[in-house]
Amino acid sequence: MRKLKLYIAQSIDGFIATEKGSVEWLNDNENEEIDENAYGYLDFYSSIDTTLMGYNTYKEIVNFGIPFPYPDKKNYVFSKNHEKKEDNPVEFIKSNIVEFVSNLKQLDEKDIWLIGGGEINKILLNKNLIDEIIITIKSVVLGKGIPLFANGTDFKKFKITKVEKFDDSFAQIIMERK
Ligand SMILES: NC(=O)c1ccc[n+]([C@@H]2O[C@H](COP(=O)([O-])OP(=O)(O)OC[C@H]3O[C@@H](n4cnc5c(N)ncnc54)[C@H](OP(=O)(O)O)[C@@H]3O)[C@@H](O)[C@H]2O)c1
Repeated sequence: MRKLKLYIAQSIDGFIATEKGSVEWLNDNENEEIDENAYGYLDFYSSIDTTLMGYNTYKEIVNFGIPFPYPDKKNYVFSKNHEKKEDNPVEFIKSNIVEFVSNLKQLDEKDIWLIGGGEINKILLNKNLIDEIIITIKSVVLGKGIPLFANGTDFKKFKITKVEKFDDSFAQIIMERK
């Protein structure tokens, strides 16, 4: 069965964005040359053919003001209250998202990238649908913000399979569901 992988970046204190939803703090290394495959991104990207995201995450991506970044993938946006407006290669899913993701996982295709954010991560984690978590930690403390998993997340155990330090501000931990 294909895996659902949460590939995401967080601060030391477990936030994935500021309170207003910004992720600019992840990209403040302008003076350093960033390798195209930094943080294993290209290898990871070629291992998946589908992305999942909550509406708030989709909205942030649209606000970047760049062409939609995953045009070669099948992209699903979860939203109860919004309709698709932009001409992007995404499909909106309104209801039964747990059933939808369970069915998606049965298809014999490449793995699935759970992009986030915190609300969708919580729903899918609580239903034991997340098989792998790849967290890239940036060594900053935000103090407040949007958490990796929203309030109401259940206790879960994961097994660490790999830990890697990239430079003096990023390290990555790969974990599998126990
Ligand atoms: N650091 C990183 O790598 C990273 C990665 C991803 C995201 N982020 C950040 O995370 C933030 C967003 O996280 P978030 O927790 O606020 O929101 P989110 O999980 O991205 O999206 C939440 C939205 O999903 C929809 N939703 C929730 N439950 C649903 C259900 N059962 N069925 C259908 N739709 C449902 C609702 O949209 P409607 O209100 O439209 O119904 C809800 O408001 C953004 O700021 C983004 O930049 C950071």
